[in-house]
Amino acid sequence: MSKIKIYVPRDSEALALGADEVAAVIALQARQRGIPIELVRNSSRGMFWLEPLVEVATKKGRVAYGPVQPEDVAGLFDVGFHNGGAHKLGLGLTDEIDYLKKQERLTFARMGITDPVSLDDYQAHEGYAGLCKALTLKPTEVVQQVLDSGLRGRGGAAFPAGIKWKTVAAAQAEQKYVVCNADEGDSGTFSDRMTMEGDPYMLIEGMTIAAMATGATRGYIYVRSEYPHAIAALNEAIARATEAGFLGNKDGKGVLGSGQAFHLEVRKGAGSYVCGEETAMLESIEGKRGVVRAKPPIPALKGLFGQPTVINNVITFASVPIILARGAAFYANYGLGRSRGTLPIQIAGNVKHGGLVEKAFGVTLRELMVDYGGGTASGRPIKAVQVGGPLGAYVPEAHWDLPMDYEGWTAVGATVGHGGIVIHDDTADLSRLARYAMEFCAIESCGKCTPCRIGSTRGVETIDRITQGDAQNRPQQVKLLRDLCDTMVNGSLCAMGGMTPFPVLSALNHYPEDFGLSKPDRKAA
Ligand SMILES: Cc1cc2nc3c(=O)[nH]c(=O)nc-3n(C[C@H](O)[C@H](O)[C@H](O)COP(=O)(O)O)c2cc1C
Ligand code: SF4
Repeated sequence: MSKIKIYVPRDSEALALGADEVAAVIALQARQRGIPIELVRNSSRGMFWLEPLVEVATKKGRVAYGPVQPEDVAGLFDVGFHNGGAHKLGLGLTDEIDYLKKQERLTFARMGITDPVSLDDYQAHEGYAGLCKALTLKPTEVVQQVLDSGLRGRGGAAFPAGIKWKTVAAAQAEQKYVVCNADEGDSGTFSDRMTMEGDPYMLIEGMTIAAMATGATRGYIYVRSEYPHAIAALNEAIARATEAGFLGNKDGKGVLGSGQAFHLEVRKGAGSYVCGEETAMLESIEGKRGVVRAKPPIPALKGLFGQPTVINNVITFASVPIILARGAAFYANYGLGRSRGTLPIQIAGNVKHGGLVEKAFGVTLRELMVDYGGGTASGRPIKAVQVGGPLGAYVPEAHWDLPMDYEGWTAVGATVGHGGIVIHDDTADLSRLARYAMEFCAIESCGKCTPCRIGSTRGVETIDRITQGDAQNRPQQVKLLRDLCDTMVNGSLCAMGGMTPFPVLSALNHYPEDFGLSKPDRKAA
């Protein structure tokens, strides 16, 4: 009798919701009932309200049940769920679930399908096809593919990845590095974590392609300490890839016999938001305090330990294997304007159906919040949405139908950032959220420059005077806040101080009533 494959996610958010306990009860019940099963710990599909999502392989495809609790398992076996039997938690064929079916999953194509640390599974699903292709090309041709794909950095600044790679490739140095920024500090974001936990070889492959294209022989993945499962999955995948010759310098012949070695290590961050800023991250990897470096020199020329360094976000690297495997034109075919390809968008906050939605650029906020997200979890109207992390603006309803694209959004003061969207209902007080933005900056500032270090503290005080002080002084205090924001935007060394005014000013401009500003006050301020 062949074994029935049952999938229970091992992703940390599924674990937080009891996936380990569910897996243990499934194994026990199957044993007691004499049903031969193979329990696969896959990654999450990214539909968090359905976790733990249990799937069963049937002749028609995988059938899903969720959210499953340990006490549901006996009942599931009673109705023969292991053969796709009907149950109140049944969701039908996984691939037919609307939330998944409507997506354009390129980077997240394997997510939930494979066993994350199985190299065989990875290769059986197009894994390492990109690296194999890259090894048939000259390094300049690999860089050209990345340039032609239009891929831009997914960490926030949206800088073209190929230009960075070209600069490092052209630099002359004994030692070059590839560094992955996996600090993922933005509020409401988790696509990096899901990638590292759910498809770690994809990131490793992307970094290896970068190394082959630029001549780098060492790499680091800087992972935030709050991600222990990601760190464990990466370490296991790195060990297996090294053993199999996809990394390291097997038999002195380099990666897959290419003659070029590439050694990869995980470095654990210590929980500072500013260590996600690329130069502060380099300082942290070098064992120093995470303080931002002045640029120039740019890290591509003088980065880690003063050597040429490619720095990219997890999703940027993870997008590269499919670009090489299927060609730049395939990837560039998705998207809008100068925003090519897809973005794994993370829907969070007060939302009914939070999760991961990968779509080509061009999707709108309303589609994401309503069609995918299903509105607020509280059932109340959506009032505000912050996109792009704690330094991103609050986007008012007037712009919810604007297609997502870096340039189009910048024109209306919105940022795409790392693709995290945090939804608030009509009970949110935007003056409190603006105050929080300034307070966050005051706490997380590296302290190197005055507009950020001092300005953020003065910003908290000024917002307090607006909301709690004498109403007559309000317009004057608002002017002061605007002046302060102007100084922070124009005088800060990095985007920490330079962008903190974005959420503050967007809250003030679009929700003035939350700051106690009457209509005449708004004009005066
Ligand atoms: C305060 C601050 C925090 C940042 N945090 C992150 C982060 O957690 N992850 C990330 O990839 N980029 C972060 N960035 C952006 C990086 O400085 C850098 O632009 C990025 O890692 C480059 O990779 P990319 O070109 O692939 O986006 C941050 C920037 C600032 C100013
Ligand atoms: S803006 Fe803030 S975080 Fe950035 S260098 Fe200046 S003090 Fe440091």
